[in-house]
Formats: sequence, C-alpha cells, structure tokens
Amino acid sequence: MSVRVCVFDAYGTLFDVAAAAREAAMEPGRGEFAAVWQRVASDWRAKQLQYTWLRAVADAHSDFWAVTQDGLDWALEASGLDDPELRERLLGLYFELSAYPEVPKALADLRKAGFATAILSNGEPEMLAGAVESAGIADLLDAVLSVEDVGVFKPHRTVYELVGQRFGTNPDEVLFVSSNGWDAAHAAGFGFRSVWVNRAGEPVDRLPWKPEHVLSDLSAVPNIAGAG
Ligand code: LAC
Repeated sequence: MSVRVCVFDAYGTLFDVAAAAREAAMEPGRGEFAAVWQRVASDWRAKQLQYTWLRAVADAHSDFWAVTQDGLDWALEASGLDDPELRERLLGLYFELSAYPEVPKALADLRKAGFATAILSNGEPEMLAGAVESAGIADLLDAVLSVEDVGVFKPHRTVYELVGQRFGTNPDEVLFVSSNGWDAAHAAGFGFRSVWVNRAGEPVDRLPWKPEHVLSDLSAVPNIAGAG
C-alpha cells in the first residue's frame, strides 16, 4: 500500500530538545550552568525517557510534563546545581522549544504533495500545543496526537494504534519518522513504514525490528513518502 499519512515524533525529531539548556546557558549571569549545560541536557533527556519506560512497564503513568520535571531535577542535582530560578527558566524554555531548521519546509512539501501530517508524541497536549505554536507549524499539521489519550507512554502499541483511529489507515499506509532509534524500531515492529532520523550519528538499536530508512535530518522525508 502507498503512504497516505506521515507521522512524526515530537521531541528530538521536530523540536530541538537541547535548545532549552543551550539557550539558558547563553544568558547573562549563568556561568556555573554554562560550564555544565551539555551534561545537564543529556542527563535530562536520558532520565526523562527512562522514566517514561519505567512508568509504562510498572503501569504507573504520570504525564510527560511531570516526567520532564523529574528528569530535570535529577539532572540538576547530578551536576551539583540547586537553583530554583534556573529550574523554572529551563522548564519555561522547554515549553517553547524551537523546531529544527528543515522542519517547516519538509512539512509544507508533504502537505503540497497531498499527504496528511501529524505528531504522535509522549508529550501532554498543553506542552505539545506550546511547542507547535512557538515553532509556527500549527498550520502544517492535520493532527497532534498525544499518549494522554491512552494513558501509557511509547512504545506501548496502543499509542501507535492512535494513528489508525484518527486517520482510518492501515499501518503500512503510515510513514512514521522519529529521531529516537527505539521509537523508530517499535514503529517498524507495529507495521508502520519507519524512518529513523539519526541526528546524533548513533549506532542502530539492537532490537528485534529495524527502521526501513535512516536519515540525518528530515529533508528527504517527502521523497521517501512519495516513493513509499
Ligand atoms: C516524543 C518523545 C519520545 O515526542 O520524544 O514522543
């Protein structure tokens, strides 16, 4: 079957998750943070994701905003930072993350070619609305789907089922794009056509399924969708 809908992971795929820490580190008076911001950003993301998986396995869901705050608290403490104002600033910036530069054109090209476009994300709806708004891509998306509709994080298969429920598609009519190797792998396992955007140049995840395509950014997604 040919592709009808192109579905994107949000954080790390459309939105630059390191931007919050990077931007805060450049602000005046943040010398202590500027020295460690990369470690904080990396710990923050790693813990945020680990907590989603652990909560999913333990059937102990809380929304992604809570998990994002828990991950940040761990990361700040691990770097010896105890600064409530910095914490609030980082969370504020996370609410209005920038999109990667190639995102608007890739989405616009897909829409022009007749594909529906959507986000499928762990993010809770208000967070996603904030990021979509600040990135200026609201008009380029047909749907923003959140795991909050099923109350469990990726890669639970009920999350991937949200796409068919919204668009009436079979899995092989969906091109799923994620910068998270584990998300791209599980999407392939679900039956989606799957693209891994390997922005960080990492090895492929050793999971039972592999993405069909590996890209370094989103620019070639419209071509792949057309060829699908
Ligand atoms: C998301 C996370 C996994 O947006 O990046 O779902």
